[in-house]
Amino acid sequence: MPTTLIEPFRIKSIEPIRMTTRAERERLLDEARLNPFRLRAEDVLIDWLTDSGTGAMSSRQWGAIMEGDESYAGARSFYRLQAVIRELTGMEHFMPTHQGRAAEKVLFTAACRKGDVVPNNCHFDTTRANLEYLGVEALDLVIPEGLQPALIHPFKGNIDLDRVEHLLRTRGDSIPFGMITVTNNTGGGQPVSMANMRAYSELLHRHGKPLIMDVCRFAENAMFIKMREPGYTDVPVKAIVQEMFSLADGCTMSAKKDGMVNIGGFIVLRDEQWMDAVRNMLILTEGFPTYGGLAGRDLEALAVGLQEGIDEDYLRYRLRTAEYLGERLETAGVGIMRPTGGHAVYIDARSILPDMPVEQYPAWALCNALYLQGGIRGVEIGSVMFGKRREDGSETYHSMELVRLAFPRRMYTQSHFDYAAEVIAEVKEDARNIRGVRIVKQPPFLRHFTCECAWA
Ligand code: F0G
Repeated sequence: MPTTLIEPFRIKSIEPIRMTTRAERERLLDEARLNPFRLRAEDVLIDWLTDSGTGAMSSRQWGAIMEGDESYAGARSFYRLQAVIRELTGMEHFMPTHQGRAAEKVLFTAACRKGDVVPNNCHFDTTRANLEYLGVEALDLVIPEGLQPALIHPFKGNIDLDRVEHLLRTRGDSIPFGMITVTNNTGGGQPVSMANMRAYSELLHRHGKPLIMDVCRFAENAMFIKMREPGYTDVPVKAIVQEMFSLADGCTMSAKKDGMVNIGGFIVLRDEQWMDAVRNMLILTEGFPTYGGLAGRDLEALAVGLQEGIDEDYLRYRLRTAEYLGERLETAGVGIMRPTGGHAVYIDARSILPDMPVEQYPAWALCNALYLQGGIRGVEIGSVMFGKRREDGSETYHSMELVRLAFPRRMYTQSHFDYAAEVIAEVKEDARNIRGVRIVKQPPFLRHFTCECAWA
């Protein structure tokens, strides 16, 4: 019996990618002010900046796109998608948004007040930003195991229920709802167990608080439950997904991840509470509630994508891909966040650059080195992203220096991953030649997107 796990699809349409020479990449990175966000995508060979909206759609999705009903109100495409979402989530109320952060903005504006506090395993940065913008405190309460990169634990995305209980006791009046992010992106794409979600849901409900799930990567989370949680081996992923949703009172979704589409998002809610406010806010900022910032064809592609995203052959291949690259990197002596999550591999830059001072931004330096060596683009999750320059010119730094390689869905084949493993191993071998950077120009917030750097 062959053991190689193959891509469970064949390729119908291709998009060429372009190899560049080292000399060209040196010039291009220079022109980009040593900031990979400023590169043109065309000049990148393997683009692992994000898994968000970057995947390949299937022939069935492209076919569905022609079925799009572009009516302003009451389009057929809305009802088709609503039926799929109701079946998966068991929730009555569904509203499309243009992407995940819009779902957050609309729901939070309707449900939160200044001075509130919202617990979560880890808030994604747009989730945190949307809460903080409303004067709400966003608390990260992931279990302690979730903060130790090298530690192996099957569900490092679990929320710390003791700390949630303490929060409910001490500040219960200020909690509009509890959140949980599946999988936990900020914590390494780590899954949350069904047992943890169930206990969290029961705890919140005992205190009269709803549970809102951030479900961008719900299908990957469900597959991890099937593979790792006792009692779920023989349960179909679709049933696991339905059980997960049955624990929630509402969800925000970026369909650009497990929705398998290039743009889109939505809100679902179980009951009427907040619905009037959500609907009014949606109309104000997104669009009429039956299209919510999307074209009819986008709704059609998503209706198909949500079904394809829970296919077990696809999910097994998907999770194995990250695990495979992780294994190859560990064999090469590269430190990574363990175990590998669903959508990405996180390299611990400190394992390659143990002596580079944090002032030279080691994870940023490693990111640049991957591009120079092999045309690979990842994203720094370190002190450029999370550090700050204070008004007096002094700097704060992040506790970890990571490079995230996030994998677009159904896009790269095993040879791309083999190539990347070789490039990263070469970079590690040649680590003494990796140059750190200094920031020469930066905006007041979210500086990583646009900052300009020079070699340190
Ligand atoms: N929640 C989580 C857990 C996310 O990972 C993202 C996006 C969002 C919400 C916001 O969704 O982009 O559609 O507005 N994550 C992307 C990433 C950008 O690269 O991890 P959005």
